[in-house]
Amino acid sequence: MSSNKLAVVILAAGKGTRMKSKTPKVLHKIAGLSMIGHVLNTANELGADKIIIVIGPDMDDVREAASPNPCVIQAEQNGTADAVKAALPELKGFKGSVLVLYADVPLVSGQSLQMLIEHHEGGDLGATIMMMVPPDPTGYGRIVQNPDGTLNRIVEQADASEEEQQIRLVNSGIMVIDGEKLPEWIGEIKSANAQGEYYLTDLPKVIQEDGGSCGVVRGHFLELRGVNSRAQLAELEGFAQNVLRHDAMDRGVTLHDPHSVYFSWDTKIGKDVTVEPNVVFGPGVDIDDDVIIHAFSHIEGAKIKSGASVGPFARIRPKSILEENVSVGNFIEVNRATLKAGAKSKHVSYLGDAVIGEKTNIGAGTVIANYDGFNKNDTVIGDNVFIGSNSTLVAPVTIGDQALVAGGSVITSDVDENSIAIERAEQRIIKGGAAKYRDTKSAKKKAS
Ligand code: UD1
Ligand code: CA
Repeated sequence: MSSNKLAVVILAAGKGTRMKSKTPKVLHKIAGLSMIGHVLNTANELGADKIIIVIGPDMDDVREAASPNPCVIQAEQNGTADAVKAALPELKGFKGSVLVLYADVPLVSGQSLQMLIEHHEGGDLGATIMMMVPPDPTGYGRIVQNPDGTLNRIVEQADASEEEQQIRLVNSGIMVIDGEKLPEWIGEIKSANAQGEYYLTDLPKVIQEDGGSCGVVRGHFLELRGVNSRAQLAELEGFAQNVLRHDAMDRGVTLHDPHSVYFSWDTKIGKDVTVEPNVVFGPGVDIDDDVIIHAFSHIEGAKIKSGASVGPFARIRPKSILEENVSVGNFIEVNRATLKAGAKSKHVSYLGDAVIGEKTNIGAGTVIANYDGFNKNDTVIGDNVFIGSNSTLVAPVTIGDQALVAGGSVITSDVDENSIAIERAEQRIIKGGAAKYRDTKSAKKKAS
């Protein structure tokens, strides 16, 4: 981490019209986290002393996502330099380096930015720009170099000559600027260009006119590319997923088919965990060592402890805890429920708003009726309980340790420990009744 002070300005005021969405662009998610969330995490990882987010008017939901960091409003989208200008009041008297990030370039790594900052602070530079070589430079600002390789200026697509458009080296948009001089330099930027906007990319020209110089650092396109469309959002999702899959495997997770497993940015997963194909992890999942997640399971907001087995086809929803050696089988939905160590629910059940005791066995087709149409109600099931198949437990209800619920029962009142609860019509046997039934029916059919 740098010894100089660091302020990060995140530009997020653009409308993102190409997304064709009611949601502001920077709130679209990659690996379960908004783009602005990714950039804020990276800024925090750098140990920024100050983070300022530039938003447009009517972007209260972006402000909320950025909280507790201060947001400033750029009244009109007059270009990237104008956006940085809107942040200046928050930077009054700030003397360190100012790093400009774009909220729609969400996957740039802290490591690359650290390299950029170190390069900048190691030289006597007014600004240092992160550049890259994309497969197709169309749309990006081109880097025009001096014969000695140093930066001459940046030319935007709309202003580039045919010759300049051939340049493959482009501006990623990310740059570090000397914070003390920034207000003065920003004031010098003019809008005499094809789009009539104030371009932050004119900064090198202004700095050179002031007798200063600019540095460039080359980063990797894969992490520096931005999102302007849904197709690019999907591309970055794919990239983020591959990074997460490789991280998981590096940490000792077996993925039978990595490409079919989807992680969240915050998935925590231990060693010797096996994840079969077609598993989706939503946000907030924390899995200890030695767990197996069978195919086609969907898990979010859940803690899963060691030795547990989940799925195939299980759905584990938020605020659920599966303790050591719990086994949850096919077509089980667990919702805000804790299954204590060694508990089992192997077939086709709904377990909502419940605590299920140690080594308790939940039979096939058990449903916990947790919702009465108005409120969610709790169910507490003790240790070593046996719930027979196709039982309905109508919450709120408590079932004591070692109790037994007979299959097919609808349980509406508490069951004491060691008791049997049976709630179903008594069985009748009619001897020879089946033959008699068939005779009557077939005679009637012949007659008609
Ligand atoms: C910009 C750069 C270009 C670079 C490219 C990299 C300029 C003039 N051009 O072009 O050199 O190659 O990024 O992706 O800087 N924004 C505001 N207020 C504004 C305008 C933009 O906050 O008035 C924000 C946007 O929300 C976005 C970022 O600034 O996060 C970039 O703006 P955008 O319009 O996408 O710039 P590009 O045309 O992509
Ligand atoms: Ca852009």
